[in-house]
Amino acid sequence: MKPGWKKIAGVALLVLLVAVLAGITLTIGWRPFLGPKTRPLTDRHFESTPARLARGKYLVEAVTGCLGCHSPADFKAHGAPPVADKLGAGRSWPDNQLPWLMVPNLTPDKETGTGNWSDDVWARAIREGIGHDGRALFPVMPYQNFRSMSDEDLASIVVYLRQLAPVKNSVPTTKIPFPLNFLIKSVPEPLTSAVPTPDQSTAEARGAYLVKMGSCADCHTPQRQGQPIKGLDYAGGFVFDGPTGIVASANLTSDSSGISYYDANLFIKAMREGKVGARDLNPEMPWWFYGKMTDDDLRSVFAYLRTLKPIQHRVDNAEPATECKLCRAKHGLGNRN
Ligand code: HEC
Ligand code: HEC
Repeated sequence: MKPGWKKIAGVALLVLLVAVLAGITLTIGWRPFLGPKTRPLTDRHFESTPARLARGKYLVEAVTGCLGCHSPADFKAHGAPPVADKLGAGRSWPDNQLPWLMVPNLTPDKETGTGNWSDDVWARAIREGIGHDGRALFPVMPYQNFRSMSDEDLASIVVYLRQLAPVKNSVPTTKIPFPLNFLIKSVPEPLTSAVPTPDQSTAEARGAYLVKMGSCADCHTPQRQGQPIKGLDYAGGFVFDGPTGIVASANLTSDSSGISYYDANLFIKAMREGKVGARDLNPEMPWWFYGKMTDDDLRSVFAYLRTLKPIQHRVDNAEPATECKLCRAKHGLGNRN
């Protein structure tokens, strides 16, 4: 090769390298290679008080669903609530779409659970998505929603979970497959400022916070490649393939294809009983814990749902699954969208 050619090849290689580097910077960014953004742990301490224990119990049992995901489920019981003597003991994720996902043991067992964690290890995992071992948690754990959890609610939840009965149950660590294992490293974001109690002045504002803490949108907004589909907020059609069959979430907006026919009383009844009229709700919808909210809080949740933009998206689990042009999933009445 003439020296001129060598130079051109060298320049071409350099251009290629710059293009690749710029491509990474513009697309997935460098986090997948550098590891998740994180902050050093502090020695913060959440003092246990009767008020915090009571608030923590309420949030965990009625709103945030920690123990719904973090416990083995009793599929023989209506709604598939946790197995009573395994509360918080962890399990493998039951949905067939993510067979490698493990849900850790949150009980204070020192060997297999959380007995040796500091309060800030808890705090950083719950709101910032960094596991006790420093890894980025898979965002099925709703830490992006819990990021808005007030400091006082966070303290209450940790104080409450610390006094669960310890259960010895060794859950293997999640092994996220390639390329997801790289991509999710850009999800965690450190929190370095205080999170005050949110606006509680109206039913809609209280409901907005409860809906965020209850992660309703994680199931009721359909996703494509792990991202919520724009324009279909709370419009349902997200398909779950779990131990109780294949089921799509409902459209929660007030469009006529959604729950326009609901009133607050029907909503409260549905959450308390897991039924709408004579129709049993599939256990994929965890009504059994939302139904433990006070009437007031359920009314606020409903008031918030009524502020959502109505979106036409027909979803009906009683009908055979057909291709849907709007969300590109297959669900009942998909072909009518
Ligand atoms: C929708 C299901 C779901 C809900 C609800 C949920 N979690 Fe998780 N959580 C997970 C999964 C899955 C993981 C593991 C992710 C992974 O391995 O990457 C996890 C991980 C964690 C971890 C990290 C454990 C470790 O080993 O470092 C903590 C702490 C935790 N969750 C606490 C909570 C608390 C507290 C709540 C309620 C406020 C909660 N979770 C609600 C699914 C959930
Ligand atoms: C883990 C996923 C999941 C979460 C979280 C979830 N839902 Fe659901 N929801 C579903 C699924 C799936 C259905 C459809 C059940 C069926 O058709 O049997 C459903 C059905 C419903 C229905 C019944 C609609 C009808 O057909 O009449 C209401 C109301 C509802 N959800 C409200 C909520 C609210 C409010 C929240 C948050 C506080 C919430 N859901 C959180 C999955 C979920």
